[in-house]
Amino acid sequence: MAGAAAAGGGWSSRTAFILAAVGAAVGLGNIWRFPTLAGENGGGAFVLVYIGFVVLLGAPLVLSEILLGRAGGEDAIGSVRNVARASGRSERWRGLGALQITSGFLILSFYCVVAGWVVNYILASGEDWFGALFAGDPFAMAFDGETQEQITGRMGALFGDPIRMIALHSAFMAITIWIVASGVTDGIEKAATWLMPAFFVLLVMVTIYGAFTGDFGRALSFMFTPDFSKLSPGVLNEALGQALFSLSLAAGGLLTYGAYVSKEVNLAPTAAMIAAADTAVAILAGLMIFPIVFAVGLDPAAGPALIFQTLPVAFSSMPAGALVGFVFFVLIFFAALTSSISLLEGPTAWVIDAFGLKRPSAAILVGLTAWLIGVACALGYSVWSDVRLLGFWDIFANTDILDTIDGFTGKIMLPLAALLVAVFVGWRADRQLVERETGLSGGAFVLWRFLVAWLCPIAVSVVLLFGLFPNLLG
Ligand code: PFF
Repeated sequence: MAGAAAAGGGWSSRTAFILAAVGAAVGLGNIWRFPTLAGENGGGAFVLVYIGFVVLLGAPLVLSEILLGRAGGEDAIGSVRNVARASGRSERWRGLGALQITSGFLILSFYCVVAGWVVNYILASGEDWFGALFAGDPFAMAFDGETQEQITGRMGALFGDPIRMIALHSAFMAITIWIVASGVTDGIEKAATWLMPAFFVLLVMVTIYGAFTGDFGRALSFMFTPDFSKLSPGVLNEALGQALFSLSLAAGGLLTYGAYVSKEVNLAPTAAMIAAADTAVAILAGLMIFPIVFAVGLDPAAGPALIFQTLPVAFSSMPAGALVGFVFFVLIFFAALTSSISLLEGPTAWVIDAFGLKRPSAAILVGLTAWLIGVACALGYSVWSDVRLLGFWDIFANTDILDTIDGFTGKIMLPLAALLVAVFVGWRADRQLVERETGLSGGAFVLWRFLVAWLCPIAVSVVLLFGLFPNLLG
């Protein structure tokens, strides 16, 4: 068993693993997707359901996936196969690993496109702030002298310019490939240990800024006053998909990172920390964004345009808005990068293990293939805007290429893979092996196993079913 770790090193400490795993978890999902979904689905009710899913399903699954990776010691497919073999089960369970790797690969393709938008805004807000700085006014508002239409128009201009979008997407993918090609210890771990602390500092700074200059009270009540009439099967499906996406579950990332963890690390508290940190960042991101949105009377339900259009407009009438806007997009960039490397690492580790390729060649091969799909996503905003990949299916009838891949992975593939993880770890994997890997005993183990073996399969199946067939309820 060569193992992907051998091809790139392993984590040098528990802290390094936690930073890398939190880095994988904290990303566009927390800062772009979570506030967007909370905004669209009425705030408090969505947040509450989301937290429920994280505590009851997400955190137990994080532990399940890391332990599968560590016990299996290879890429996602090889690890599941090894655990199945050691448990006397069919090796066909490796299909679970394959499903995860495919999801991670597809997510990577559109993730780098959205990250490219972030780069676009780093460039625009950077130009804006440095302009103000050289003009002697470092605390200027953002995009001084521009109308609201001009500011929001930046996004439309980007969407209508496929060459620019593809160039930015390519740049982001190239950085991702470069880090993964450098190895687990020298690339992924190093990136996480620099970028994550920097990210946290910037996040706290912008949140404090928002609390003082924005409408913090309104943001708090928006995020924590639940209106249960807003809950529908579709919203539950959305919240579950988001919990899985945000925790990097079911997409090969965590399973693969688990394989690089040393046997001494106690997995249960580590998994709990990862889930808690990810959720805290999602909530902080909401508390960073909504006070600013409310301060200038904008709509929290702006959808995907929330951070790209609504926020820049808000920054244009807030003190030091140019500087804060620039910092805000740099912070998202750091978060997105530590996630995209985990998305690339899953399939890359598999290519290394399965075909014996060297790490750099594997990373380039996988990255370039995902990049091609990303190009199609980017073109879906201009020349291919009529393309409906799954147009025959009512829930995807009106979604462009990127949204279709996002929706299909988030609503279907991730829940399905999570269901299989729960069934495999809860019922098929050897009980002693599992118990030993978790490090849990007594009541804690019984509770964890109940959540994984019973609650996860039932809850995920129900949500999946009603999310896919909303008419079932009549
Ligand atoms: N968790 C990341 C985010 O919230 O942006 C996205 C992600 C990374 C999903 C890695 C899946 C994964 F394996």
